[in-house]
Amino acid sequence: MIEIEALHHSIGKAPILNGVDLVIPEGGMTALIGPNGAGKSTLLSLVARLRKIQSGHIRVAGHAVGQVSDQDLARVLAVMPQETRVSARLRVADLVSFGRYPWHRGRPGKADHAIVDRALERFSLDPLRERFLDEISGGQKQRAFAALAYAQDTPYLLLDEPLNNLDIAAARDLMRLMRELADEEGRTIVIVLHDINYAAAFADRLVVMKDGRIAAQGTPGDVITDTMIGEVFGTQAGVRMVDGRPVVIV
Ligand SMILES: Nc1ncnc2c1ncn2[C@@H]1O[C@H](COP(=O)(O)OP(=O)(O)OP(=O)(O)O)[C@@H](O)[C@H]1O
Ligand SMILES: [Mg+2]
Repeated sequence: MIEIEALHHSIGKAPILNGVDLVIPEGGMTALIGPNGAGKSTLLSLVARLRKIQSGHIRVAGHAVGQVSDQDLARVLAVMPQETRVSARLRVADLVSFGRYPWHRGRPGKADHAIVDRALERFSLDPLRERFLDEISGGQKQRAFAALAYAQDTPYLLLDEPLNNLDIAAARDLMRLMRELADEEGRTIVIVLHDINYAAAFADRLVVMKDGRIAAQGTPGDVITDTMIGEVFGTQAGVRMVDGRPVVIV
C-alpha cells in the first residue's frame, strides 16, 4: 500500500502539489492521468524519493519514504522517471544490470545475471544488448529504462509515461507485461499515462490529477465520463462504452 497524506510541494514560490491525500492499495495497476503540468511526475518523484518531501507524509509498504534507508527503499520500489539522464556510452545490458545493484551491492551473482537476461528477453531487447544507448531508437531506449526498473525486482513499480515513443505493438506488449506482473506476481504497478484508452483498457483504477490535487479516482468505468474529460482536460471528447469499457473518441 502507498499512503500519501497532506502532501504539499512548491518549486520556488509556485505551489505544485496542494494537499494530496491518496491511498494506492497493494496489488493491481493504478493509472495516474491528468493534464500537462497537473503534478503527476512531481507526485511520483516524491513517492520514489527522487525529490525531498517538503511537507506531508508518504509510506510505501509501511516504510516512511522520508526516513527509510536507500537500500531498503530500492528493494521495495523501482521507478522509471519521465526524464532519464545517463551516459550515451553505456551498453543496453549494462544499463539494465544497474537494477540489480540494491540486491548485490557490487558483486553480481548467477541469479542477478539471470534476472538481467530475463528482463532483456521480456522487453525484446536481447538483440540490442551490446549496443550503446546512443545507437538505439527512442522507443528502444524507453524499453531499456522500463527493463531496468523491472530488473530491480521490487513489489512496487512506478512508471512515468513509459509508452512515450512506443509503437502500438510495443505499447501493448509493455502494458500486458505490467498486467502480468500485477496478476501473476502480485506486484503493485503505478503508471502515469496520457492515453486514457490505455489506462481504461489495462488499469484496475484511475487517479485523476488536476492543478496539484486529486480530482477523481475510481474504476475506469466510474471515472471516464464526458463530464470528467470536459472539466479536467477542458476539451469535448466523447466517451463511448465498447465491450463494457469506456473509450474516448478523439
Ligand atoms: N524545476 C521546476 N521549476 C519550476 N516549475 C516546475 C519545475 N518542475 C516542474 N514544474 C512545474 O510543476 C508543475 C507540475 O509539473 P509535473 O512535471 O509534476 O507535471 P505532470 O503532471 O507530470 O505534467 P506532464 O504530463 O506534462 O508530464 C508544472 O506546472 C511545471 O511547470
Ligand atoms: Mg510528467
